[in-house]
Amino acid sequence: MSSQRSESFRRLGSAFAAGGDGYERLRPGYPDDAVSWMVEGTPAGAVVADVGAGTGKFTAALVNRGFEVCAIDPSADMLDQLSRLLPGVATRVGTGEATGLPDDAADLVTFAQSWHWVEPAAGSIETARVLKPGGRAAWVWNFMDVREPWVAELAAIWHTVGGDQATNRMRNLPVLGTGFGPVTSVTIDWAQPMLLADLAELVTTRSYYRSASPTERNQIDADVAAFLCAQFPAVDTIRLPYRTHCFRAGLA
Ligand SMILES: C[S@@+](CC[C@H](N)C(=O)[O-])C[C@H]1O[C@@H](n2cnc3c(N)ncnc32)[C@H](O)[C@@H]1O
Repeated sequence: MSSQRSESFRRLGSAFAAGGDGYERLRPGYPDDAVSWMVEGTPAGAVVADVGAGTGKFTAALVNRGFEVCAIDPSADMLDQLSRLLPGVATRVGTGEATGLPDDAADLVTFAQSWHWVEPAAGSIETARVLKPGGRAAWVWNFMDVREPWVAELAAIWHTVGGDQATNRMRNLPVLGTGFGPVTSVTIDWAQPMLLADLAELVTTRSYYRSASPTERNQIDADVAAFLCAQFPAVDTIRLPYRTHCFRAGLA
């Protein structure tokens, strides 16, 4: 990654530093089938490091499956929110490149919607370091399903990922170092029922919006409101379609 691109990634990644509340309320969770596929082969009671845990949307699914979870994120604000919802979960301020965990600490390392903020070469070395022998890593991304034309229009207004990058999971294949075996993958299609008012607010949780100027934000708010009024003049709730791309790999 060039230093300019990596600086721009850092700037957008840090856009989550505050704002855990809206994120937790508005962002989608993960379908059960996606979670089951990602943790397949990891027994209940195993240690899972959830990296880029944010407010704990994916962490909660891990806790519900009986894992001993350590939630890691660079944003203390996100982790505060996580601790309110999941008080029993250990948290640590850290990144995918430097988790702060000891060697051989985890049976599974997960990255839910966070690997794209991690510098992949450093992140895969760190992930391999903290995994126990025989351990695995798993990645997941929720993308709005922009095969639906109105969703594609909304994604463009939001300046969020659209086109092939959202619909084709192979465009999101994690690039790993030599420490890992082959990556396998699956895509799960589903939809989130939402109030239209919440859909209008969802953009406020996106990193582009969070790092935009007040003028840019006002413009995006106005465009979103105009679009949703025209698209859905007579409904209060909609179903927002998602494609969830999942990946996993074991240590070589
Ligand atoms: C889109 S949120 C995903 C949060 C949560 N995993 C979820 O699924 O809702 C991305 C998270 O990645 C975190 N992040 C940003 N840079 C990171 C890095 N270098 N390493 C790990 N996490 C990072 C952000 O603080 C944010 O909480």
